[in-house]
Amino acid sequence: MKILLGQTLSFVADPFAVDPTASALWDRRGAVVVDETTGHIVEVGQPDALKRNFPDAEVVDHGDAMILPGFIDAHVHYPQTGIIASWGKRLIDWLNSYTFPEEARFHDAAYAREIASRFFDLALSHGTTTSVSFCTIHPESVEAYFQEAGKRGLRALGGKTCMDRNAPDTLRDTAQSAYDASKDLLSRWHGKDRLSYVVTPRFAPTSTPEQLEAMGALWAEHPDCLMQTHLSEQTEEIDWVKELFPNARDYTDVYDHFGLLGPGALMGHAIHLSDRERARLAEAGASLIHCPTSNTFIGSGLFDMAGLKGEGQVVGLATDTGGGSSFSMLRTMAAAYEVSQLRGTALHPAQLLWLATCGSAQSIGLGDRIGTLARGYDADLVVLDLASTEAISQRAVRAEDIWEQVFPTIMMGDDRAVHATYVAGRRV
Ligand code: GUN
Ligand code: ZN
Repeated sequence: MKILLGQTLSFVADPFAVDPTASALWDRRGAVVVDETTGHIVEVGQPDALKRNFPDAEVVDHGDAMILPGFIDAHVHYPQTGIIASWGKRLIDWLNSYTFPEEARFHDAAYAREIASRFFDLALSHGTTTSVSFCTIHPESVEAYFQEAGKRGLRALGGKTCMDRNAPDTLRDTAQSAYDASKDLLSRWHGKDRLSYVVTPRFAPTSTPEQLEAMGALWAEHPDCLMQTHLSEQTEEIDWVKELFPNARDYTDVYDHFGLLGPGALMGHAIHLSDRERARLAEAGASLIHCPTSNTFIGSGLFDMAGLKGEGQVVGLATDTGGGSSFSMLRTMAAAYEVSQLRGTALHPAQLLWLATCGSAQSIGLGDRIGTLARGYDADLVVLDLASTEAISQRAVRAEDIWEQVFPTIMMGDDRAVHATYVAGRRV
């Protein structure tokens, strides 16, 4: 048992639904009791009371640093770790030039292990304790992902990326082999430790109707799994989907037709949506995953955060590394702020922090397990130094409230702001 001392911030409501300043409980000097044996948060409260109640617990004083739930990256491609920040292309060219050649290397189990290990080390050093990742078409890439997550005691979700057209020969499966291999991986990994399998058709352009149908069937057989894909990221992609699926009403309808829409469907990007699509996505209860550093880096467009949250959509936040240009959820929050500013809305710091923790947790169906600092939740934590650089600290000292104090770290922070990370109560 450990008692962690520091500033504590716990969300009690969705800051898009209530006054953001009233959405969280903040303690200038709070305490969190964690149990490494169960991996859970035992209690959140006042230091003196908790020291009295847990006299044998080791006290770890993080001073002025802020204890938060670990960040949750709801959409990432771990196999693209090595090609992050590749120059000068838009989506389809970027996939063909950089992504597919790199992903082709993951038939090699040793290489897959090396990159998965590097990815999780980078994620942890940036305070990210849960990732939802696409792997490659190779089962080896899924094995590597779950093995490396399991070794670190992490909660991780992911699946084999299925593609049976419009990709190089070495990166294509078939409808049947995608179904069989996914099902086999699912049965081996789903529910093991804190690992969950995610049914993963890459996106409509790289799957035949037969493959999408097979993915829909697999998901229907395993409704406790999530399903992840990409939706309406770039205009050229949307035009291509129209050509490939001439009978569909729109891009969303393609997934809907094959049973790939519903609660637990994670739709990466979801930028260029018609009113019909928005209404249907809300009705279906699908999750829209905002990937702001990717959307500016690849030049995709401006996600309508205020509008989509306002109409009741479920929204999560993600890096989309390596289309995204950072492993940092702080940098991702900053990009979300900037994208939203360009659409005319300034997101409140509470909304940004909520999206990276509680909001992302809810978007992946784990709102009752992670993303909140409260008794019984997984003890996955990040401890942020709110004065990690000269530029940040000289601004933060002028702050008149906690939101003004944390905002410079959101806008200018990176892994230097991550003072400590805890996984299931263990400091890593
Ligand atoms: N759409 C289909 N595949 C991908 C991918 O790997 N990255 C991004 N950003 N968009 C995609
Ligand atoms: Zn993606």
